[in-house]
Amino acid sequence: MRAAVYFKHGKPEDVLQAVDVEDPKHPSHNEVLVRVLLRPVHHGDLLGVSGRYQPGSVVPKEGVRVGFEGYGIVEAAGDGVALKPGTRVAFFPGNGAWSEKAIVSAEYVTEIPDIVTDESAAQLHVNPLTAALLLRSVETSGAQPGRDVVVLTAAGSAVARLVIGLLLDRGFDVVGIVRREAGVNELNVVFPDLPVVSTDKPGWQDKVISAAGGHPIGVVLDPVGGETASAAVGLLAQGGSLVSYGDLSGQPISVPALYFSTRDIRMSGVTVGRWAGLPVEIRKADLQLALELAASKPELFQVEQTFDLADVSQAAALVEKPGKSGTVLIASR
Ligand SMILES: NC(=O)c1ccc[n+]([C@@H]2O[C@H](COP(=O)([O-])OP(=O)(O)OC[C@H]3O[C@@H](n4cnc5c(N)ncnc54)[C@H](OP(=O)(O)O)[C@@H]3O)[C@@H](O)[C@H]2O)c1
Repeated sequence: MRAAVYFKHGKPEDVLQAVDVEDPKHPSHNEVLVRVLLRPVHHGDLLGVSGRYQPGSVVPKEGVRVGFEGYGIVEAAGDGVALKPGTRVAFFPGNGAWSEKAIVSAEYVTEIPDIVTDESAAQLHVNPLTAALLLRSVETSGAQPGRDVVVLTAAGSAVARLVIGLLLDRGFDVVGIVRREAGVNELNVVFPDLPVVSTDKPGWQDKVISAAGGHPIGVVLDPVGGETASAAVGLLAQGGSLVSYGDLSGQPISVPALYFSTRDIRMSGVTVGRWAGLPVEIRKADLQLALELAASKPELFQVEQTFDLADVSQAAALVEKPGKSGTVLIASR
């Protein structure tokens, strides 16, 4: 079978390649062998390929197989697994999702209802579960619908769109921040009434305050870091929270120390990388939410382009390009 592999850290489009590897063996107890048909390319996957999670780490001689999320068909199930061959499933986390076949723990396999398309199923886990984590972080921050405003940077991203959908459904007032003027209209196509501010002109912070309409900004959800996040922290009301979930700028967040003591500003972060370790009841509820989103809001699961596995480096390059309107998928049908 073919698998996407890297043999050294570097720019993903330079170091990723599809190579022939041995097929996996029969699944063991509580495991499932999935023939993977589609998988998304996440910024987080590319951070791993470029070595940014663990700078200086050495890649083993045999290379590293990429990907943790995928969608496909059950090919075989190990003892103790009720799933029948031919069942449509998605999985996360499962190592080597960017391979034509993967053996994954049955605990992290989700059966896909007919109403959910293949493309949405391929995006069922990482982004919607991150959205569920971010929604929980808003709810536990003390922010209240009708009182506090939630601000999202990189608001046009796939994850942010899901979060905005969830927050609006729960009655929160939301303001989106994007980095290009054209991004304002792009986001208003999906959320026509959403106030959206672009950072490409000076004075954008005042526009965010004015879009908040006099309500306190209780939470900023930020995957950008750098200047954007640093400025957004300054917009928070007394006791407000910045929740970081990404590093798109690659730059540190810089915050005056007095914000913590005098304004009680809080900063924290979430990662879907820890989701598999959450209690089973929370995971079930998060997956239920993800399935409901995939079934009821397919417009939040847009696909930018689908590449064949052979073109894995082109897929990686597209993910980093500005102005995408959906997720990049890799197919092996
Ligand atoms: N913590 C977690 O567990 C977790 C899980 C999933 C994703 N994430 C993170 O969430 C973020 C969004 O992922 P996604 O897949 O939803 O993204 P996406 O759909 O590819 O969209 C990326 C968005 O970010 C904007 N952007 C890119 N670089 C930027 C920069 N330097 N400054 C400001 N805006 C920038 C882009 O704006 P343009 O439209 O102008 O190009 C685009 O709207 C990423 O940082 C990703 O790593 C985190």
